[in-house]
Amino acid sequence: MFDALKPQPADKILALIQAFKEDPRRDKIDLGVGVYKDATGLTPVMRAIKAAEKRLWEVEDSKTYTTLAGDPAYAAALSGLILGDTVETGRIAAIATPGGTGAIRQALELIRLARPGAKIWLSNPTWPNHPSIIRFLGIEMAEYRYFDAATRGVDFDAMLADLEAVAEGDVVLLHGCCHNPTGANLTLAQWGAVADLLIRKNALPFIDIAYQGFGDGLEADAAGTRLIAARLPEVLIAASCSKNFGIYRERAGLLLAIASGAAKQPVLQGNLAFLNRQNYSFPPDHGARLVTMILTDEALRADWQAELEEVRLSMLGLRRQLADELRRLTNSDRFDFIAHHRGMFSRLGASPEQVEAMRRDHGIYMVGDSRLNIAGLNAATVPVLARAIVATGV
Ligand code: LMR
Repeated sequence: MFDALKPQPADKILALIQAFKEDPRRDKIDLGVGVYKDATGLTPVMRAIKAAEKRLWEVEDSKTYTTLAGDPAYAAALSGLILGDTVETGRIAAIATPGGTGAIRQALELIRLARPGAKIWLSNPTWPNHPSIIRFLGIEMAEYRYFDAATRGVDFDAMLADLEAVAEGDVVLLHGCCHNPTGANLTLAQWGAVADLLIRKNALPFIDIAYQGFGDGLEADAAGTRLIAARLPEVLIAASCSKNFGIYRERAGLLLAIASGAAKQPVLQGNLAFLNRQNYSFPPDHGARLVTMILTDEALRADWQAELEEVRLSMLGLRRQLADELRRLTNSDRFDFIAHHRGMFSRLGASPEQVEAMRRDHGIYMVGDSRLNIAGLNAATVPVLARAIVATGV
């Protein structure tokens, strides 16, 4: 049976982890996978997570199953963080999922169940796992232009022009904030124009929000998602706690599906629970429970927000430093976009050959499309990267 299997293509982001590990150079720099690292290169367990874990160990008296949808308190707390009070809770269906990827997968399966022929529109570029899962599920997809290679900003006119071809019932996948891989984001006015288009086309918005709090702050980063949720009758939102709670391996995600009216919510909720049952039965609970404890406890929440803000500001500081350094070295403002981008990533605009030269000659690892993880830098390595960028002729 297994002889029939063909080798699968390696995931380009995850393959970098191994390549970096195997590189014997001591001064190598890892700007690959989207994991936050502090100035010492450590991905720390956040203070509030440590405190919640200790408390959980003391108070948790059973590990019996929760519900198929996960703990309802988790859905309520995280949905509050993302949506505020934008949507009446009676319209919201939700399931806990294994990480943000689990939420994306369940959203896609829900779409296939609800409307088998629906086409999913993806930004070009997008997180490579989006098209990979969509293709795996046999769902049709199309791309809309998003990134302007010249300005390294959003090519909004091109985006809107391409989305004119969206058909009724199609799904448009949007990054809630901190676009992965580019770092270029929509303004609130542009979110408004996208909402107008989706309403006019009678299309379904599907928002992937994995970096809330990493861009302009918790509230600002949710503003686009809230605008869409306030204006569209039906919305899908896949959320991840991996990055903003730093609990990558715990796999805490949430899928929110907003129904057009409270009367339609029970069937939607039932379908989500059904999908959990088919795919893995009960979702993981440990990370979700920590998140719930933090979001519902005033002191833990304040401490979590303070640490998240430190993380956000440190990335902004590194962006500023890198842009300034490149300004000095190139005597131009060509790289100022790095300071304007938001979140963990920026797409540098280097060719695959230049990316390869940075790895070969300077031990600097970034994704082949020249996406770099800003959080992989520190004050000492920023000048090293800047010199390598100039030396490779980017
Ligand atoms: C990334 O884009 O690097 C992260 O979301 C990690 C992953 O799973 O790809």
